[in-house]
Amino acid sequence: MKIMVVGGGGREHAIIKKLKENPTVSEIYALPGNGGIAQDAICVNIGAKDIDGIVRFAVENQIDYAVVAPDDPLVLGAVDALNAKGIPCFGPDAKAAIIEGSKVFSKNLMKKYGIPTARYEVFSDADSALEYLKGAPIPTVIKADGLALGKGVIIAMTRDEAYEAVKSIMTDKKFGASGNNIVIEEFLTGPEVSVLAFTDGNVVVPMVSSMDHKRAFDGDTGLNTGGMGTVAPNPYYTVEIADECMRTIFEPTIKAMNAEGRTFKGCLYFGLMLTPGGPKVIEYNCRFGDPETQVVLPLLKSDLLTVMQAVTGGTLASTPVEFSDGAAACVIMASGGYPESYQSGYEIKVDGDPEACIYYAGAKLQDGKLLTAGGRVLGITATAQTLPLALDKAYDALSHISFKDAHYRHDIGQRALKALAE
Ligand code: AMP
Ligand code: GLY
Repeated sequence: MKIMVVGGGGREHAIIKKLKENPTVSEIYALPGNGGIAQDAICVNIGAKDIDGIVRFAVENQIDYAVVAPDDPLVLGAVDALNAKGIPCFGPDAKAAIIEGSKVFSKNLMKKYGIPTARYEVFSDADSALEYLKGAPIPTVIKADGLALGKGVIIAMTRDEAYEAVKSIMTDKKFGASGNNIVIEEFLTGPEVSVLAFTDGNVVVPMVSSMDHKRAFDGDTGLNTGGMGTVAPNPYYTVEIADECMRTIFEPTIKAMNAEGRTFKGCLYFGLMLTPGGPKVIEYNCRFGDPETQVVLPLLKSDLLTVMQAVTGGTLASTPVEFSDGAAACVIMASGGYPESYQSGYEIKVDGDPEACIYYAGAKLQDGKLLTAGGRVLGITATAQTLPLALDKAYDALSHISFKDAHYRHDIGQRALKALAE
């Protein structure tokens, strides 16, 4: 089988490595992939947002199955366009991808169908948002409606910060048209859990839970990033909480999307907060999370391609999806300065054969050398029977990998270990 994976980050590398385990897979193309992914797939220089280019490539190369991993092409209708040419795909169509593409849509969906989430108001002009903020409880949370590279959420700890956020999103258009509408919502507290789930629109099958580490520096300080590391499973996510989430969040969301005529097929990401008032949805993503995928897929025992095809074919109910009992940890190595400005083009050196998996995100091949080419450069994932062992293995492997100005967190998994000890 010829497979095409759209995207070019660590998440896509993890998906590709897992797909390769299926013996019927003969070739995997990554569009655009990256210099590190080139170790596992044929990289083709077509951007993930170039829908026409993606479709043309798939048709010309007789692709048997496509996986569209990032949010942008999903929201832009890549799956619709590929399906129109008869190419089966993993991922939601544009109508369903709106669950991530518009925060106004997802908040209104949750309100309409009684799915627990933070209380909120929607605004389409800065003046009424600023007027509302005069009396709003602080801290408050301001979210641009559309996609904003994961940066469209501002937690305002003071009223002035809240005013500034509205001005930068709505008046200065920091995120372009994504900020034409905003959501202002209640500030929630509690441990966060990421749950990725396969769904074919009929049943929803949650994967092992995980925990992201969004802040740039140790002790959860510094700016929000795309994610500096992950662990799975998430110790806060007990069997009882999982049951409650299935009943109050996962199944109601699938039913709500069906009722709206927007059946979701693919991987639905539930960003949850376990508040004193019960689990609530912080966000939905219409795709695998990054870097959650880098700890979730290594624990998947079942064949990924088989599961993906069951999602596409609507036969997920009769397809086993099993995870191992162990744990996984992923530590991200980033370019110094990330998530703000940073230098690239430094050689990535891997000493020996570390006992861990390297998923490349921002890397390029030049004259046979692998060079840094992005903020998040690579993620190192180790699996083991327990979380402490997985963390030891991941950090040990990290000590064999180097590039100039490399930055990583030293405390990935420490909060999870504390929770396990409680
Ligand atoms: P998002 O980009 O939607 O994942 O949001 C980024 C981060 O902002 C989340 O992971 C949370 O830590 C935080 N966040 C979002 N919404 C809220 C909320 N209502 N209350 C508290 N924190 C939030
Ligand atoms: N790690 C969060 C995301 O993929 O959006």
